[in-house]
Amino acid sequence: MPEAETIWIIGASDGIGAALARAYARRGARLILSARSGEALQDLATTLGTGHIALPLDVADRATIEAAAARIAQIGPLDRVVHLAALYDPGKISDLAPDTATQIIAVNLTGSFHIAQIAPPLLRKGGQLALCGSVAGYFGLPQGQIYSATKAAVINLVQSLRAEMGGRCDVRLINPGFVDTRLTRRNDFHMPAMVTPQEAAQAIIDGLNGKRFEVHFPRRLTWPLKLLRILPYWASLPITRRLTQ
Ligand SMILES: NC(=O)c1ccc[n+]([C@@H]2O[C@H](COP(=O)([O-])OP(=O)(O)OC[C@H]3O[C@@H](n4cnc5c(N)ncnc54)[C@H](OP(=O)(O)O)[C@@H]3O)[C@@H](O)[C@H]2O)c1
Repeated sequence: MPEAETIWIIGASDGIGAALARAYARRGARLILSARSGEALQDLATTLGTGHIALPLDVADRATIEAAAARIAQIGPLDRVVHLAALYDPGKISDLAPDTATQIIAVNLTGSFHIAQIAPPLLRKGGQLALCGSVAGYFGLPQGQIYSATKAAVINLVQSLRAEMGGRCDVRLINPGFVDTRLTRRNDFHMPAMVTPQEAAQAIIDGLNGKRFEVHFPRRLTWPLKLLRILPYWASLPITRRLTQ
């Protein structure tokens, strides 16, 4: 019988992260659950059974991640770190509040950078570090800035990290399509190929157990968007312009 995995999920208090925590717990993993809401994390840890730990932190505040990392170092080496924490504020570039934009960059991009630096030493040799981009980062679509720009940057960051780690840890990129969480409930447009958080969690677990660098789902949405990315601009920009009408 293989030993239970120890997995740190950041962004575990809600949405995809909470569903992933439940799914990994059913598989016998020992979980370290992080996000800002300590109470929600503690409630989740209690529901999941014994041996799970709630470690609140704010990914925009490096000192809180370092404090959590110091605790985790005492627990022992991790098998996986899955970083999902992010903020979203839908809207057009012209309508964005500058302070909100700054906060989204601090959480989504700078937060991912902090995790990319702090998490690898906590992993066992060959352990896995997965960070979350989005299909919104594939190509600039109308609505959803500055979130989409941070996700494009996270994709780039994770590609670099994969190269720089040179196999010392198993770096992975998760790019979900639309998932029904509080994040997407703020959208007022039609979201094609929406999946549940449970379906997203299953796709992430399967993908991270596989060999591919990028875990993307659902394919019926991600492949057309990948195609958009490789078209010449004279073909792709008229398509994205039509999405604003
Ligand atoms: N839902 C989608 O359709 C979709 C599509 C593509 C990509 N994604 C990505 O998937 C990931 C999870 O999204 P979701 O839909 O599950 O969103 P969600 O339901 O809003 O959950 C986001 C999680 O991140 C945590 N979080 C937010 N800010 C944080 C901070 N500063 N420090 C620490 N934790 C923080 C939240 O907890 P607290 O509020 O307690 O801190 C929560 O646990 C995100 O990276 C998102 O960009 C989602």
